[in-house]
Amino acid sequence: MSIELKNQKEVEAIRVSCQMAAETLLLVGEQLRAGMTTDDIDKIVHDDTIRRGAYPSPLNYKGFPKSVCTSVNEVVCHGIPSGRVLKNGDIINVDVTTFFKGFHGDTSATFYVGQPSAAARRVTEIARKALELGVKEVRDGARFGDIGAAIQEYVEGNGCGVVRDFVGHGIGRKFHEPPQVKHYGKRGSGERMRAGMVFTIEPMVNEGSFEVHVDPKDKWTVTTADGSLSAQFEHTVAVTKDGCVVLTERARPLKFSENIAAVFAV
Ligand code: MF3
Ligand code: CO
Ligand code: CO
Repeated sequence: MSIELKNQKEVEAIRVSCQMAAETLLLVGEQLRAGMTTDDIDKIVHDDTIRRGAYPSPLNYKGFPKSVCTSVNEVVCHGIPSGRVLKNGDIINVDVTTFFKGFHGDTSATFYVGQPSAAARRVTEIARKALELGVKEVRDGARFGDIGAAIQEYVEGNGCGVVRDFVGHGIGRKFHEPPQVKHYGKRGSGERMRAGMVFTIEPMVNEGSFEVHVDPKDKWTVTTADGSLSAQFEHTVAVTKDGCVVLTERARPLKFSENIAAVFAV
């Protein structure tokens, strides 16, 4: 299947959904603290999304039961909110996708709950930087392999693993569209990016091996095969003639307070 090119009006519509998702993610960052459950985060995301007149894309997507993915510690992605209580030292990726007026916007970040260990801080910071390096490769005429190579070189150069089984994706009227955006690969390989393409970059970085395991019971929760920590950041980007725009860019940095130990890393 070919990669759809969005016109300016469509990109602007996707930007609106993306900005809603970014705002909801900021709200989670402001409220996150030890003692909360991942269901509490689900409620924050659900209520804020509905309040905006939008719909939380994950809810009932291919049977996903909640409005957001919450992936704690060794959970790589697609963590299902539950009664799990967040504790000091946990890291949690919160992945928000918002559907508004026919278009989806998708963004995530990993937060620290209280004081992170040095190892937790390291893998989180590497994931944040990996996304930044991927975004820098995006421009009309560059190839998707350039994104993957930049991310893989950096992540593996730091002794971490970059997940292969889950990838970034085109986005627009559908939550997941072509292309698959790999976070590993060879420079100069893959299709060329063209102005008007809109897709996500969302590298999942494991402290240890890149290998993952899907929970056979719930069929969603993805964990590292070796039990090591995993962190992820995600943006939705639009390719332009001379580079790209990050449609999910946050309007402001996360607000810190003494109570709020969650540190936003990007
Ligand atoms: N938001 C995830 C992504 O970045 C997809 C979650 S699918 C769900 O692609 F069903 F788990 F929500
Ligand atoms: Co996402
Ligand atoms: Co995504």
